[in-house]
Amino acid sequence: MKKISILDIARMKEERRKIVMITAYDVLFAKIFDEVGVDILLVGDSLGQVVLGLPNTLGVTMEDMERHTGAVARGRKRAYLVADMPFLSFQAGPADAIRNAGKLLQAGAEAVKLEGGRNVEATIRAITQCDIPVMGHVGLTPQSIHRMGGYRVQGKSDAQRERLLDDALAVQEGGAFAVVLEGMPADLASGITERLAIPTIGIGAGPGCDGQVLVMQDLLGLFDEFRPKFVKRFGELKKPVQDAVRAYAEEIREGKFPGKEHSF
Ligand code: KIV
Repeated sequence: MKKISILDIARMKEERRKIVMITAYDVLFAKIFDEVGVDILLVGDSLGQVVLGLPNTLGVTMEDMERHTGAVARGRKRAYLVADMPFLSFQAGPADAIRNAGKLLQAGAEAVKLEGGRNVEATIRAITQCDIPVMGHVGLTPQSIHRMGGYRVQGKSDAQRERLLDDALAVQEGGAFAVVLEGMPADLASGITERLAIPTIGIGAGPGCDGQVLVMQDLLGLFDEFRPKFVKRFGELKKPVQDAVRAYAEEIREGKFPGKEHSF
């Protein structure tokens, strides 16, 4: 299969072909997803919760993102690779943002993603002017958890809807090649998708976006504790994993494993 480039992503919107994006954090899953033919792998800062056990994404560092971006880059051959800019890696000023975006490219990413709308337009412009492609992220932006008062659907009032449309336009005006629309009413996301020339990738934003993204642990059914409405579990992998480990433990305890065939 041919390597996916930023040009292919733009073409997919023009040709109304849906873009498939999934998060990945390590070499093994990157390889598995790449072999299936997903279009974009995202090393999300959701890494904080689903890999590092942090309460939110605010504690994720550049070092974490570089390390995991490198791992995913080594596992994929075909998919386009986007890495999240973690909290405080781009907010302090354009020079900082450019340097940190560059580090993610050096780790193996082909583009970076950062959260925000009109407030980060100049930052997006500064990064893209250095030939580093940027994916925007507007709506429910997890790094703004304390401003939003929790992970809440955004864009419910008319004023908020206008602000989110303006945020998406700002991201495009800054030079982003695509934008994630997270946690907003489906009709608003559809309207934004029609207004923008760049592709939109939805998560909890309805079917009208140009593509969709989910966190891998959610869609594979590895998480039980928290089941957001927008997540569809395409597998139930927690149980088979536990069954296999239970069988392993039982055989050790009964002296059945390792058998002759596993011994030297
Ligand atoms: O961090 C992440 O995984 C994300 C996606 C959920 C869009 O930003």
